[in-house]
Amino acid sequence: MTVHAPETPALVIDERVARANIARFQAHCEAAGLALRPHIKTHKLPLFARDQIAAGACGITVQKVGEAEVMADAGIDDILLTYNILGVDKLARLAAVARRVERLAVVADSAVTVAGLGAAFSREERPLTVLVECDTGAGRCGVPSPQAAAGLSATIHETGGLVFGGLMTYPAPGGQSAVETFMRTAKALIEAQGIACATITSGGSPDMWKAGGETVVTEYRAGTYIYNDRSLVAGGACSLDDCALTVEATVVSTPTPTRAILDAGSKALSSDLLGLTGHGTILGHPEAAIVGLSEEHGIVHTTRENEFEIGQRVAIVPNHACVVTNLFDFAWLKGNDGVLRRTAIAARGRMT
Ligand SMILES: Cc1ncc(COP(=O)(O)O)c(C=O)c1O
Repeated sequence: MTVHAPETPALVIDERVARANIARFQAHCEAAGLALRPHIKTHKLPLFARDQIAAGACGITVQKVGEAEVMADAGIDDILLTYNILGVDKLARLAAVARRVERLAVVADSAVTVAGLGAAFSREERPLTVLVECDTGAGRCGVPSPQAAAGLSATIHETGGLVFGGLMTYPAPGGQSAVETFMRTAKALIEAQGIACATITSGGSPDMWKAGGETVVTEYRAGTYIYNDRSLVAGGACSLDDCALTVEATVVSTPTPTRAILDAGSKALSSDLLGLTGHGTILGHPEAAIVGLSEEHGIVHTTRENEFEIGQRVAIVPNHACVVTNLFDFAWLKGNDGVLRRTAIAARGRMT
């Protein structure tokens, strides 16, 4: 289906901007000697995963078995799943994905996860590659020290059905030097055990332009870079012109000269503030702020009287692109001709 003005609220992706973002960061990684493994959590679209690989990415990153299944269905054959997979059902699905792609790797940060992976892959024809997830400061998953990373690498190495693949971290913004220190120490400890540490993978779009240089990291996982968003603009990683994803909305009410109500609320924009004030940037309206949301209402305050009129359409750059993508069944892809093409967001809502 193609249209010029979709029903609102609508998720609109400017393909020209998205492709430029893909090319620019791919070129950065190539110049820096880093493999790029984009995280598909931002777009959840096989077509952009294929574009990223065609541009030179070594494969993709996913967070869920369901996302891996969607991407394997689409012919993507090099997948890193950056999550502890637990439970017989998920492990059976993981093994099924592994049978139909060229390369599948996962992460683990405990002996419990490693034991489950080993049990699931002990009778498989090909072993599963497992990387140790390391907490280099973000305080989410990950072994807490290089010593623990070395210990778990030995456990993986000794477990039938598994191959140790290296180290993975999702650092805190600004955490590159902590990554370097942790990873250099862990790599040395692992190699001292006679185990090769092939891949060291880090990531995150806030620090993407700092990736590279004198680094022990071999691979970078960025997700948001393909669309960018208001949080990355605020952090200085991109400009508003580099933002490919907008939520289009309609003004449904103007109760006062300085207050307008949009038909995009938390169901379209999410409630994610990411530390920012307001719920998105309304393009072309610098005097206006989205000060509050209920599910179906976006409350706009503006300092310019009668700035908005009922029926007017606006485009909003949301705070956090990834969570917004997950809220929509389909996106409208805007081509160079300005025509919008509808595409299903195939990997949205894949919670398991
Ligand atoms: C494990 C992992 N790797 C990579 C990324 C990509 O980060 P960003 O979207 O900041 O590029 C994420 C994002 O949540 C992540 O959780």
